[in-house]
Amino acid sequence: MAGDTSSRKIEHIKMITSSRVEAAESSLLEYVRIVHNPSPEVNLEEVDLAVDFCGGRLRAPLMITGMTGGHRDVEWINRELARAAEELGIAMGVGSQRAGIEDPSLEYTFRVAREAAPNAYLVANVGAPQLSLGYGVSELRRAVEMIDADALAIHLNAGQEAYQYEGDPYYRDVVARVADAVEGLGVPIIIKETGNGLSGEAVSLFRQLGVKCFDVAGLGGTNWIKIEVLRAKSKGVDVKPAGPMADFWGNPTAIAVMEARSNAIDSYIVASGGVRNGLDAARAIALGADIAGVALPALRALLSGGPKGLRTLLGSIIYQVKTAIYMVGETRVRGLWRAPVTVWGRLAEEAEARGIDLRSYLYATRLAALAYKEVK
Ligand SMILES: Cc1cc2nc3c(=O)[nH]c(=O)nc-3n(C[C@H](O)[C@H](O)[C@H](O)COP(=O)(O)O)c2cc1C
Repeated sequence: MAGDTSSRKIEHIKMITSSRVEAAESSLLEYVRIVHNPSPEVNLEEVDLAVDFCGGRLRAPLMITGMTGGHRDVEWINRELARAAEELGIAMGVGSQRAGIEDPSLEYTFRVAREAAPNAYLVANVGAPQLSLGYGVSELRRAVEMIDADALAIHLNAGQEAYQYEGDPYYRDVVARVADAVEGLGVPIIIKETGNGLSGEAVSLFRQLGVKCFDVAGLGGTNWIKIEVLRAKSKGVDVKPAGPMADFWGNPTAIAVMEARSNAIDSYIVASGGVRNGLDAARAIALGADIAGVALPALRALLSGGPKGLRTLLGSIIYQVKTAIYMVGETRVRGLWRAPVTVWGRLAEEAEARGIDLRSYLYATRLAALAYKEVK
C-alpha cells in the first residue's frame, strides 16, 4: 500500500511537468478590480507585509501549499521549497503524509522540510479518505510530529478519488473524525480542498466544529480529475470517463473565498487554486482572504529554474502584493480589506445566486472581519 502511494507521487510530479493539468474554467479572480488610488499618501517602503496566520506569524501573506514527500526522489523538492519558505518567512505545506505514516522509512522525505526550515510555519497533511478508512488522532499526531508542524491540513479531494483508477472515494464519518481531531490534536487544523473548492456550507459546518483555518483551493488552477484521467490513460488502465467534469466541476476560487469569509468571519482563509501572480493574490486578499497559496507554479518554477527560479516566482508575487497595498494607500496587508473593490460579471452573478449580497459583503463583512482581527 505504502509502495503504491509512494510511486503515485512520482507519477503525479511527472504528469504535471509534461501535461496541461489546469482546469479550463477560471478562478473568477479576473472579475475583481481593486480601485487604484493615484495619490496613495504612503511610501512604498512603509508597507509591512507581516500577517498573523493560524496561530503563527508570516513575513508575507503567502503559502506554498502541500504537494510532496513520500518518495526518495522528491526529498530534494521538499528541501528546496522549505528553504525558500524559511528565507522569505512564508508558510509551506508538505504533501499527504500517508506514505510516511504507513512506511516509517519514508518519513525523512517529509522531515527534511523542518530540517531546512527550522523557523517557518509548516503544515502537515493527511487526506480525508484516510479518516473515513480509520485514521484517528494518533495517526494525525504522527503526521504533525514527523515535521514538528505548526498546523495540520486535512485535505478534501472527493473529485480526485472518484477519478483515480485505484482511488479511495470514501468520505463517510470524515466530519466526526475532524471533530475528534479538533478536540484532541493540539495544533490548529486547516480544512483544505485540492482544486474543486470549499463551499460556504462546508466552511460553516467545519467552523461549527471549531475549525478556524481554511484553504479554499478552488477551481481555476490545478485539477486533479484531469491529472488522474491523464495518468490512467498513460498507464493504459481503466480510464474513468470524466467528460466536462475535469474542466468545469467545482467552486471557482474567487467565489469560494467569498463563501468562506461569509461563513467564517473570525477564521483564517487561504485563497488558492489558480493563483498565478501577485495581482491574483492581491485580488483574493482584497476579497477577504488572509493569505494566498500557490502549488503548481512553485513546483514548476523549481523544476524548470531551480532554487533561483523558485525565488524569482515567489519574490515577484510578494513584490506585486506589496505594490498593490501601496497603490491603495495602505501599509498593512489587511488594509486591502478596506480598499474599494468592484466585483462584476460572472463573479457578481454567482455571488448573488449564492445569496451573498455584494454591497454588504464588500463593506460590512470585510470590515467586520477586519475589526475582529484588529481586536485580537
Ligand atoms: C504536484 C502536486 C501535488 C499535490 N499534492 C497534494 C497533497 O498531497 N495534499 C494536498 O492537500 N494537496 C495537494 N495538492 C494540491 C495543492 O495543495 C493545491 O490545493 C492545488 O494544487 C491548487 O493550487 P494550484 O492551482 O496553485 O496548484 C497537490 C498539487 C500539486 C500540483
